[in-house]
Amino acid sequence: MTAEEIKEYLREVHHPAKEDRDIVDLGMVQGIEIGDGSVVVTLGFPKQRDPLRKYIVGATRATLIRHLGNGIKSEVREVEIEAPARKTGTEFTKETLLSVKHIIGIASGKGGVGKSTVAVNLAVALARLGYKVGLADADVYGPSIPVMTGTEGYRPEAENINGKDYIVPLEKYGVKWMSIGYFAEKGQALVWRGPMASNALKQLVLQVNWGPLDYLLIDMPPGTGDIHISLVQEIGIEGAVIVTTPQTVALADVEKGVNMFRLESIAKPVYGLIENMAWFTPEEHPDEKYYIFGRDGGAKMASALGVPLLGRIPLVQSIRENGDDGTPAALSSRPDGVAFVELAGKLVKQIN
Ligand SMILES: Nc1ncnc2c1ncn2[C@@H]1O[C@H](COP(=O)(O)OP(=O)(O)OP(=O)(O)O)[C@@H](O)[C@H]1O
Ligand SMILES: [Mg+2]
Repeated sequence: MTAEEIKEYLREVHHPAKEDRDIVDLGMVQGIEIGDGSVVVTLGFPKQRDPLRKYIVGATRATLIRHLGNGIKSEVREVEIEAPARKTGTEFTKETLLSVKHIIGIASGKGGVGKSTVAVNLAVALARLGYKVGLADADVYGPSIPVMTGTEGYRPEAENINGKDYIVPLEKYGVKWMSIGYFAEKGQALVWRGPMASNALKQLVLQVNWGPLDYLLIDMPPGTGDIHISLVQEIGIEGAVIVTTPQTVALADVEKGVNMFRLESIAKPVYGLIENMAWFTPEEHPDEKYYIFGRDGGAKMASALGVPLLGRIPLVQSIRENGDDGTPAALSSRPDGVAFVELAGKLVKQIN
């Protein structure tokens, strides 16, 4: 009589609540000891109550008696085992991002100021400066990174590392991109309830195999709500830049954005303001500047809030067109492309 033979007998015991799989297959058999005229089988049960536990033990006893006959004594013992940890997104913490040196949030007090445009171009510009860069599109309601980078239609794959599934980011223009938009069909509206949205967000940052990065930029959703606070805390954002337009009316929004990072529960540095659409330059008159939203608004805001003005980006048609056709302006050697590269340099200096 061998343990293998006993194991074969035990395969006749099925667990009716677990797709009727047998107890060997389910990994419930913890031990088979064969002595002189005796067999001891140990079954493991999870700590939580299994309503079929008695039934399984009884069926195992019956099976052993039936096969071993009268001459051999059999015994079934029970042990309690820890349920194996379930592999879900929740086990991914900011510790999984150890290979990322700096996680920087790109935020704004209000929507539509060009935050995503700045985030994408800043990422490309940092890559042009030779840094390893990733960008996570944390705007789960209105992801715009796929269009702005011409990566619509990318369907991410999972990669198993040490028993955990990670999402593989897409690499283009020297930057690794990740967006919830890669998981949705084109034109499909994304509807999330609060907790789902923040979970999706965390997964989109923490469950991605970014590999070694110098900078991971997070294009934060517009506004300054709860979702932002948990994002900053759980993802481990190191600091932020705030994007604004020059109007005086925007000051209150910018203040909200800056103050969010100054909350006691967050307390992260704001590296500075980026003034977007600082002036308008027509395509056919590249040397002219029209301060249609007022002059030096960004500089005044920055000094009022006590943060540096990192840079000013003009309102030019090509930035919008490049956003629409997926070839970020920062790739070009036009003045607006250069402005983004200079901005990236300033940011690096400020962070360090
Ligand atoms: N400097 C600029 N010059 C020209 N167009 C710009 C500039 N900045 C942004 N835009 C255009 O303005 C529009 C809004 O920009 P974007 O989507 O980046 O804003 P956002 O702040 O991310 O918006 P949301 O709050 O919806 O996420 C886009 O069409 C973009 O191409
Ligand atoms: Mg956006």
